[in-house]
Amino acid sequence: MAVKKILRIGDETLLKMAQPVAKLATPELYALVQDLFDTMQAADGAGLAAPQIGVSLRVVIIGSNDNPRYPQREPVPTTVLVNPKIIPLNEVIAEDWEGCLSVPKMRGWVPRYQHIRYRAHTPSGELIDREVQGFHARVVQHECDHLDGILYPQRIRDMSRFGYEEELFKGGPPPRIEDPPA
Ligand code: NI
Repeated sequence: MAVKKILRIGDETLLKMAQPVAKLATPELYALVQDLFDTMQAADGAGLAAPQIGVSLRVVIIGSNDNPRYPQREPVPTTVLVNPKIIPLNEVIAEDWEGCLSVPKMRGWVPRYQHIRYRAHTPSGELIDREVQGFHARVVQHECDHLDGILYPQRIRDMSRFGYEEELFKGGPPPRIEDPPA
């Protein structure tokens, strides 16, 4: 159990394509997952990807419930995804304010698929297969982008909507933006 240092934008590990986990249910994988949990919890994250703690493997954690960094967003069940795959279910794009523990104190207005299916393994080897929308879909897409070396600023279309939280929201939390109807 350990809270790890979170790499910040500029570190080259964040730009790498992470490798698939070859073997499930190993002590090494469980130890990585515990580090991810501890680190995400300490930082109030809604998700964390292994590359953010310097491990270039396809493992992410998602999970959010009354998260102070994302007020009024619907809860996301805490789940570990190993070797996840995302399938967009239609072309509808939702935009919302997004942040990242690797891009501290900043937010950007990021387009994401509104409605996705995702599949992954749990660390012990069970299959996860979910169809989700909205904030849950956003968090999964954000975390899986980390596995492909992509940080959310690379997704922003309107760079006038990227900046420090303190300036954008005058010190408050990001405002709730309703997702468009699917
Ligand atoms: Ni992130």
